[in-house]
Amino acid sequence: MLVLGIESSCDETGLALYDTARGLLAHAVHSQIDLHAAYGGVVPELASRDHIRRIVPLLRQVLAGAGAGSGDIDAIAYTAGPGLAGALLVGAGFAEALAFSLQVPAVPVHHLEGHLLSPLLSADPPHFPFVALLVSGGHTQLMRVAGVGQYELLGETLDDAAGEAFDKTAKLLGLGYPGGPQLAQLAERGAPGRFDLPRPMLHSGDLNFSFSGLKTAVLTQVRDHAPDAAGKADLCAEFQAAIVEVLAAKALAALKATGLKQLVVAGGVGANRALRAALDAGVRAAGARVFYPELELCTDNGAMIAFAGAQRLTSGKAAKAAGRFGVRPRWNLQEA
Ligand code: KG4
Ligand code: ZN
Repeated sequence: MLVLGIESSCDETGLALYDTARGLLAHAVHSQIDLHAAYGGVVPELASRDHIRRIVPLLRQVLAGAGAGSGDIDAIAYTAGPGLAGALLVGAGFAEALAFSLQVPAVPVHHLEGHLLSPLLSADPPHFPFVALLVSGGHTQLMRVAGVGQYELLGETLDDAAGEAFDKTAKLLGLGYPGGPQLAQLAERGAPGRFDLPRPMLHSGDLNFSFSGLKTAVLTQVRDHAPDAAGKADLCAEFQAAIVEVLAAKALAALKATGLKQLVVAGGVGANRALRAALDAGVRAAGARVFYPELELCTDNGAMIAFAGAQRLTSGKAAKAAGRFGVRPRWNLQEA
């Protein structure tokens, strides 16, 4: 079964063709970073308009890459939420219209389910059940994943997501957009220990997180010390160390609490090198294994949507969709 995946929930247009027998055949992403950079953040209306411009050329590209024609498509999976309403509507409208004309099913997919299952696309995939650490721009959650559609929330952030904390802190340090990767890059040139930042909720005894205070603490350090370029790098390093320490500690605590031996890391922040190093070391010491999606599938892409849609179709567990058709800018994964 050949599944076309369409992702348009935020500032990346991603299309992919996944074959249930042959695996991922082609995927292509267009990032809108340049489009939004001048505004310091995503402008929803511009995002929607750009998705409209990119979607057909990207479809042609993945069809050519897979050596397939539109008539070979057996189903179309699209991100139905959560995300920006207008941006989601572009993908949903296109997917539903194409599915109608090809007379194939259209499958709404939860964006986080895409991220969560994306490590299963790698050559050495994890097996159910596993613990998943979802760290994106909008979410920070620990889940127990027993199978497709079986997601138990173990803990989550009470305020900002980890990626959001990276982005907001980068912005207040005057770094460019998108802030997360830039802050991480600068952190590699500095060293932690020179500034004092908290480790929020490290000893809270549960699996929840809180990152908004960290951003405020950085702001206070900037006000008090007016760091120069080298100081800023050290501050970034300390900030990254704080987030990484809390994420790694809680992920390991989740493994312990569930008795599971596999940790899956998904979402944009999963690309962070310091986080990977800390998790690799911690998980090995705990006698467990950690799995990441391929680096290019860490951030938003169509492959994870095609794959999640294919899993939903083959397991007969269609997501409880928004209704025929609609999108859900806010949508809890447990309700999918
Ligand atoms: O999963 P994703 O592509 O989009 C959402 O669904 O949110 O994640 C994007 C988030 C952004 O907040 C971005 O700053 C962050 O992931 N991010 C990083 C890194 N790469 C992306 N944060 C820290 N270090 C990175 N290397
Ligand atoms: Zn995402």
